[in-house]
Amino acid sequence: MAQRVVLAYSGGLDTSVAIRWMMEEWGVDVACVLVDVGQDPDSSESLDDIRARALAAGASECVIVDARDEMAEEFCARAIMANARYEGKYPLVSALSRPVIVRHLVDQARRLGATAVAHGCTGKGNDQVRFEVGTHALAPDLEVLAPARNWGMTRADSVDYAHKWDIPIRASKEKIYSIDENLWGRAIECGDIEDPWAAPPEEPYTLTRVTTTESVELTLSFHEGRPVALDGESMSLADLIRTLNHRAGATGFGRIDMVENRRVGIKSREVYEAPAALALIAAHADLEDLNLERDVHHEKARLEGRWAELVYDGMWFSPLKEALDAFVAETQRFITGDVRLRFDPPGLMRVVGRRSPVALYDHGLATYDAADTFRHADSEGYVRIYGLGVRTWAARQGARHAHPGS
Ligand code: ARG
Repeated sequence: MAQRVVLAYSGGLDTSVAIRWMMEEWGVDVACVLVDVGQDPDSSESLDDIRARALAAGASECVIVDARDEMAEEFCARAIMANARYEGKYPLVSALSRPVIVRHLVDQARRLGATAVAHGCTGKGNDQVRFEVGTHALAPDLEVLAPARNWGMTRADSVDYAHKWDIPIRASKEKIYSIDENLWGRAIECGDIEDPWAAPPEEPYTLTRVTTTESVELTLSFHEGRPVALDGESMSLADLIRTLNHRAGATGFGRIDMVENRRVGIKSREVYEAPAALALIAAHADLEDLNLERDVHHEKARLEGRWAELVYDGMWFSPLKEALDAFVAETQRFITGDVRLRFDPPGLMRVVGRRSPVALYDHGLATYDAADTFRHADSEGYVRIYGLGVRTWAARQGARHAHPGS
């Protein structure tokens, strides 16, 4: 019997062609897993339609897995708690979904007795790294196959290949953009975007098309670092993200245009839209300003960049990432409270208020009015001793810093 391979199937041209190509070239049986991480393929096509395409291409089966809550509760939640933005900007949209998909790929490989898993990534991107390193971390014995790295076909060749085998693809030879999407947002590549000087075209955006001129104000509530309610209404994190993508996105907020460093050494111009992700991280970080003790806050800020880099680099399942998760979790015990956000179309967002029952902000200490509880006289000795070293240095060695003649 032919060896069985489980393919991470998206329904796009590459993974559809990969089914037939692996069967023909490698003589394997191909089973597919279609993981729903909240991608919203255009409404004219359901997940069942996509499944039918996998079967038409020759797959022996195609399992659909609903991983939307898992994506939200385990992956987006950790990204929020870590205020995760790669290179200070990108909220890890694609990078967060790959480990979710890998987990299901490995589960199905076990269930179906496969000896290998496969993905449709090319050799130039980060996603191949995430699929492969992730699989090796969860299942060191499984082989990982990457047909798109082997077949040497151009996009036009792939379209011809699909026609030759009667694979019902919807793509044409001149597709413009490569788009990856999930609950956390959308990543747009290729086409005119490849010229970093050219302003991003309006066309590929879907979440952030401005449909209102009215400002929107909303309140997000957090419990121990996790968003739990929107305008006082409790909801699952997946629902909250969907609602926020819609409400914040309608004001045009959530676009990113950047040049980023891929793991494989290529700089690439990327366009993203992630209104909920950016709003949630901004609100969460603001609540931390109110509630985190200073040293913890500063140390956390140093580690957040590292966390985002590890996840970007495909190290979701790795010892350092897990150790950092433990640190982040410890810091979130008191990140409970509300944050008020104001969205002004087109595309502006500000935090305009925050409150918490466990805030470290103390009005009596901070105020300059009559409610002041701060002991002013204590500062005299404190500041004298704090600056003593500098004073001594100035008296003995520091004279050259004064203006000449003073
Ligand atoms: N550059 C982003 C990342 O590496 C997005 C990748 C999107 N993938 C795609 N097939 N369009 O996370």
